[in-house]
Amino acid sequence: ARIVVLISGSGTNLQALIDEAASTAWPGRIVAVGANRPDAEGLFRARQAGIEDFVLDHRDYQDRKSYDADLLQKLNRYNPDLVILAGFMRILTPDFVQFFRGRLINVHPSLLPAYQGLKTHQRALENGDAIHGTSVHFVTEELDGGPVIAQARVPVLPNDTPDTLGARVKAREHVLLPIIARWFCEGRVQLSGRDEVLFDGQV
Ligand code: GRF
Repeated sequence: ARIVVLISGSGTNLQALIDEAASTAWPGRIVAVGANRPDAEGLFRARQAGIEDFVLDHRDYQDRKSYDADLLQKLNRYNPDLVILAGFMRILTPDFVQFFRGRLINVHPSLLPAYQGLKTHQRALENGDAIHGTSVHFVTEELDGGPVIAQARVPVLPNDTPDTLGARVKAREHVLLPIIARWFCEGRVQLSGRDEVLFDGQV
């Protein structure tokens, strides 16, 4: 399966995917990495791994619609079976999301449906949550609202800051995301026409 990963920042989740894809008989191949910022650190990870990369700088565009139209075109050139948003900090237009429906997944640092949007670790701490975590989900038109495929939980520890809690969450993401990507590539998970996640036997 052909995978394109989109990033905006450090790309540690991208790195986890790269490592996994290199280490075992992995059913997917990362054919390209795209970023919306030329300074996204994760671009170096792609280059180091010999993966093609591209930058579409959102500051060059007037509006979301024209940005997403170009992004869609760019992605299509790679003919992806799966597009992974791994810290891609952009809200995508309904047209874009619909085009890639069922082959677009995102990793979001909370136990959805809790804490959609930003500053998830801070909000979990402020609410005194004992458990926090991360979700991998299919992307639908609702921001961070798409059907959850799998989640990983972490404890919230005394004296946690958003940074320490966030690091604990990320460590779990680095395990979870490659697993889900693998399942997807193996055809073991898919999105139904009614926005349900179907596993193995059901598929
Ligand atoms: C992750 O925590 C992910 O959940 C969120 O953005 C972060 C990306 O981190 N969507 P990285 O760029 O993979 O290090």
